[in-house]
Amino acid sequence: MEGVVIRAGTASDLERIETIQRASPEAAQWTVSDYLYYSFVVAEMDGVIGGFAVWRGVDVDEWELLNIAVGPAFRGRGLGRALIDVLPAGRVFLEVRESNANARRLYEQCGFAVIGKRRKYYQHPAEDGIVLERKR
Ligand SMILES: CC(C)(COP(=O)(O)OP(=O)(O)OC[C@H]1O[C@@H](n2cnc3c(N)ncnc32)[C@H](O)[C@@H]1OP(=O)(O)O)[C@@H](O)C(=O)NCCC(=O)NCCS
Repeated sequence: MEGVVIRAGTASDLERIETIQRASPEAAQWTVSDYLYYSFVVAEMDGVIGGFAVWRGVDVDEWELLNIAVGPAFRGRGLGRALIDVLPAGRVFLEVRESNANARRLYEQCGFAVIGKRRKYYQHPAEDGIVLERKR
């Protein structure tokens, strides 16, 4: 997508990432400095960071998406899609709140399929987690 750049995240991005994460209560609320231990990318639109994604390897060619968020003012402009597009080939797993329709639509559009449900996986409020997998 025009104007969108995905690049590796660095320590100097963390303040901005924390702001985006706080504004995205549906996302996991991590201590953002922990992202530096994982695969961590940011999405810039016209030079401004609008979103981020974090994942980890769990096996050979198997990955788990740990978090993804796009700031409210940047949504609906393809950043989420661009972040998912840079996930490595292989199997990617993730969990999503059952009620998180925007994220579920994004994942579905990017080729993820439902493979299971984790009862009351989330708290505050308690909710089932839907487990999705993308094979590529
Ligand atoms: C989910 C999220 C990352 C999507 O980011 P985004 O940059 O808005 O997504 P995109 O612009 O790339 O949209 C991709 C697709 O997702 C779906 N989608 C995203 N936002 C949507 C919305 N508000 N309404 C309807 N569909 C939406 C659409 O299918 C869209 O494709 P389309 O534009 O061709 O219709 C973003 O809404 C977000 O950060 N939400 C809060 C955090 C969160 O839920 N994280 C996931 C936790 S598991």
